Amino acid sequence: MSGFDKDWLALREPADVRARNQALLKAAIEAAESTSATAILDIGCGTGSTFRALSPRLRKPAHFRLFDYDPRLLDEAQRQHGNAVEIIQGDLNQIGALPLADISLVTASALFDLCSEEFIRRFVARLSQTAASLYAALNYDGRMRWSKPHPLDEAVVANFNAHQLGDKGFGFSLGPRAWETLTACLKEGGYATTTAESPWVMTADDRGCSCHSSMAWCAQCTNTLSSTRTRSATGPISGARWSIGTGAYARSAIRISWRSAAGEAASCRISERKLQSNTISVPIL
Ligand SMILES: C[S@@+](CC[C@H](N)C(=O)[O-])C[C@H]1O[C@@H](n2cnc3c(N)ncnc32)[C@H](O)[C@@H]1O
Repeated sequence: MSGFDKDWLALREPADVRARNQALLKAAIEAAESTSATAILDIGCGTGSTFRALSPRLRKPAHFRLFDYDPRLLDEAQRQHGNAVEIIQGDLNQIGALPLADISLVTASALFDLCSEEFIRRFVARLSQTAASLYAALNYDGRMRWSKPHPLDEAVVANFNAHQLGDKGFGFSLGPRAWETLTACLKEGGYATTTAESPWVMTADDRGCSCHSSMAWCAQCTNTLSSTRTRSATGPISGARWSIGTGAYARSAIRISWRSAAGEAASCRISERKLQSNTISVPIL
């Protein structure tokens, strides 16, 4: 199992939907519909959010293969979409076994920043043996900012970004640098590649998602802090954010979490680059 929780994926999906770069989404659809191949493969599909983003916009019927290694997420995808999708359980590290037959488009959301350079190189090498295009959305590029800055923002982001470089099952991940490596590999592999920004912008309306994120980030930051000084400086923020959602503390925690005073709309902006999500890559044949 991957450690990704279906409820967390559901919480973030509205922010993901808003973040998707519309021009790249359109280009992805055009790429999918421009060949005689009729299948779309979503790798690291989770519960199927890319399917939900793409399928209503398609003008021609397409066969969706949803590929992931986490049976709980695949069960949820099956529960939500039944026969509209083909579910395939497998490990992306077995690149040779990817079901790429008759695929016009490979899609991935929130995946490549988990991956190592070695994995990305192997993946692109395999992809370029096919005529499929790639749409890779929502790759975190290392930038976050809050509408109300806090002196510890920089430390929090730096430690979060350091945490991103850990091994997420593909070898040490490239984290914020993944989109650049992916773009470079695609260009080397003969793909015409476009990238665009696809920032998450969260306001008070995204309270559930933003609270969950801030708790996770603080936990990760606390775990990755190496200096006692920074650890102790960040402690109060961590503590405050951890208290989010705990009854009586909920209101003040949300205020602290997003550095927004009570009564103000809280907002947090995370810059993400869809590399390929914000990147559409079409093989030049
Ligand atoms: C951040 S989640 C994104 C899920 C989905 N694409 C979305 O946007 O909601 C990353 C996904 O990659 C999957 N994943 C991670 N490592 C994998 C591997 N080695 N093989 C297959 N799937 C993997 C996880 O199970 C998870 O569903």
